[in-house]
Amino acid sequence: MSVVGKNIPHDSAKGHVTGESLYIDDLPFARNELLVDYWGSPVAHGRIRSLNLEEAAKIPGVVALFTYRDLGGHNHFGPIIEDEMLLVEELCEYIGQPIVVIAAETRKAIAQAKKAIQVDMETLEPVFTIDDAIAKRQFIGTTRVIQRGDLDTAFQQADHVLDGTFINGGQDHFYLESQAVIAYPGEHQTLTVHSSTQNPSEVQREIANILGLQHHQVVCVTKRMGGAFGGKETQATHPAAMAALVALKTHRPARLVLNKDDDMRTTGKRHPFQNNYKVAFNRDGLILGLQVDFYSDGGAAADLSTSIMGRAMTHAENAYFIPNIKITGTVCKTNFPPNTAFRGFGGPQGIANIENIIEEIAATLQQDAYDIRRLNCYGLQERNMTPYGQVFQNNWLPTIFNQLAERADYKNRRAEVEAFNARSRTHLKGISMTPVKFGISFNTKFLNQGNALVNVYLDGTVQVSTGGTEMGQGLNTKIQQLVADEFHIPAESVIVMSTSTEKNNNTSATAASSGTDINGSAAVIAAQKIRERLIEFASRHFALKELGLIPSTGHIQFEAGQIYDSRNPDKKLTFAELVKLAYFDRVNLGERGFYTTPGVDFNWETGQGTPFLYFTTGCAVSEVLIDRFTGELKVLRTDILMDIGKPINPGIDRGQITGAFIQGMGWVTTEELKFSASGELLSHSPTTYKIPNIQDVPEIFNVDWVDNDGNHMNVRRSKAVGEPPLVLGLSVWAAVKHALGCVSGGQIPKLNLPATNEEILMRLTELAESRSVAPSPVTPPFAVCPNEPEN
Ligand code: MTE
Ligand code: HPA
Ligand code: MOS
Repeated sequence: MSVVGKNIPHDSAKGHVTGESLYIDDLPFARNELLVDYWGSPVAHGRIRSLNLEEAAKIPGVVALFTYRDLGGHNHFGPIIEDEMLLVEELCEYIGQPIVVIAAETRKAIAQAKKAIQVDMETLEPVFTIDDAIAKRQFIGTTRVIQRGDLDTAFQQADHVLDGTFINGGQDHFYLESQAVIAYPGEHQTLTVHSSTQNPSEVQREIANILGLQHHQVVCVTKRMGGAFGGKETQATHPAAMAALVALKTHRPARLVLNKDDDMRTTGKRHPFQNNYKVAFNRDGLILGLQVDFYSDGGAAADLSTSIMGRAMTHAENAYFIPNIKITGTVCKTNFPPNTAFRGFGGPQGIANIENIIEEIAATLQQDAYDIRRLNCYGLQERNMTPYGQVFQNNWLPTIFNQLAERADYKNRRAEVEAFNARSRTHLKGISMTPVKFGISFNTKFLNQGNALVNVYLDGTVQVSTGGTEMGQGLNTKIQQLVADEFHIPAESVIVMSTSTEKNNNTSATAASSGTDINGSAAVIAAQKIRERLIEFASRHFALKELGLIPSTGHIQFEAGQIYDSRNPDKKLTFAELVKLAYFDRVNLGERGFYTTPGVDFNWETGQGTPFLYFTTGCAVSEVLIDRFTGELKVLRTDILMDIGKPINPGIDRGQITGAFIQGMGWVTTEELKFSASGELLSHSPTTYKIPNIQDVPEIFNVDWVDNDGNHMNVRRSKAVGEPPLVLGLSVWAAVKHALGCVSGGQIPKLNLPATNEEILMRLTELAESRSVAPSPVTPPFAVCPNEPEN
């Protein structure tokens, strides 16, 4: 009667549709409640000479205005390096950086107050590009290195050496619920804060630090988030601290809910990367050596940038064994909002780089990129050591490559695509298969821990609380299934409760795709402890002197919601009956579980270690159609095949794969962050920032996984699934690169990421112009394909 492995509905499935699901701004207004917002820097780089709040304070409805002076010296914070200030003291480092917290009775008063704030600023020269930051040597943290082998020899002995620079852009999280928080003041300087955060413990900690409270004076509660995607791993903390400041100072409940535009303007995004690479390979396409220098745009403060760079570096080789390799990673400081975690956490940026290189090797050798990928793929027993010294075990990639090529009829379709390109005067097609190998575990050892609380009630129902937070990914449903199975009861008998620092202390962010791995494992451990006590009690209960039965825990069976002694199977108890009897016998029916991920460690001094418990892998093939005159891109078909172990809930995992792929496709195609010359985000709403919608989903879209029963490393042989499939969006980008290669006349086609319609059109035009052929029917700026045969 296992419920693990079943497609039970997501615990919010109905509520999301009916509107019953509660988000922060659905919480009813409390008596006396204040609205909170902030006023931020008008310039990307400048120094405040004077700030005048007198007029703003006079506006009717404005209750309080706070600056850093009200924080009593507790202004500094940051998740790794404490280089952030909640409120600017003097130096402003990005547009919108909070300077004044405004608390008011109405939104109108807030809007008027913002206009009435007077500031005199000295403007300073801003840094907006990675190149400029490198020139000025503006870095965050130090440059780190992972290396092995002998690169010099590899470059000397290779048939081919190729170098270049590859740029990939940022991405807005575009969660539907913006950053949101309500803080309620309590007695004795305590606060209860409801926050849309992936990381309630960090919100608790930072509020305490900023307000000069002790941790136990602050409780942070998270019911659910309306999406997070990494954007609420650290950056929910700032609004939470502001609302908490107002609640503490005014003794009134305080609500801060950003509107979409302000959220997009002032919060950090996926890190843009600029990478210099040099690769050595032989005439078959076997890679002998790779040097890559990653530079990321960290924005104005460290946030998680160094850790994100670390993940990019440990994903620089993706699915490929590269014997000689040197990877460096440097975070640049610029005058944009601090960039932050975003689904994949640097992994996609690291992987995009090597996938671009593979396409370029294929173009150089005029070979199928699939064959280059297959040739360089990690082996099963050999060629399986990562550059950082972790052996890649249980490698399903060769199988997945082969199976997917067959299922998607890759070779025939590629031949058709190339024939089409030789024929069509108006359109181009492209096709590519790209893999992902994503390391599972936080790449910071101590974060790999979690605790859970399981309470069994007298009617046999169960409440579970963990440090994990629900953001739509289905964590609650998976934990519900795991715990139900430990007691052999139906899923409906288990509810996963709101996350609260009052129940689960010192927890990590729900991130690194390991929410279920860590919190599900902790919940299972807690449930098992209770089950053992129930078994001990049941063995005594079922022992019958007249039958000569002495208590034997080994004979107690849980089956289909009933418990019995296998020596006397006619006498059965329901779970509820057993629980009630155990209660009267004074058996403890509540328990905590604690889990730590075994064996993970990494040393940045040596660039070596075992950062990951296991890898989630997969491949996708995408076929695209491009309009040569407009650059318009359509995805005709995508086939995905992954190894996600044994899913706890196949329907939820299918949703994760589908959603992550589409989000990845958005990153590599349409989502482009445009800034003005003064550093203001221009694409700050859905009218100017294009995320994929239903029409953008591939016309044919097949999602599947292999039957892998062997992942003994993780709870119920499942695998983490939240982030890895995002990387497969790169198959769409690689297909565009393939299409360009079909008309590049043997040149390596250059393509930045995202491959927007505009970028594609520019590249087509460039290719047409660089080939001195007779003008075609349409002259540039429209793209043309030279040398096409007459139709
Ligand atoms: N799925 C939904 N629906 N909403 C989200 O915000 N975040 C992603 C992924 N899937 C996200 C999501 C990210 S960035 C991570 S790290 C994981 O979910 C976190 O949850 P998990 O560890 O429980 O998979
Ligand atoms: N993923 C997400 N968040 C993190 C990680 C990671 O690998 N490491 C530290 N914080
Ligand atoms: Mo996900 S970027 O680890 O929150």
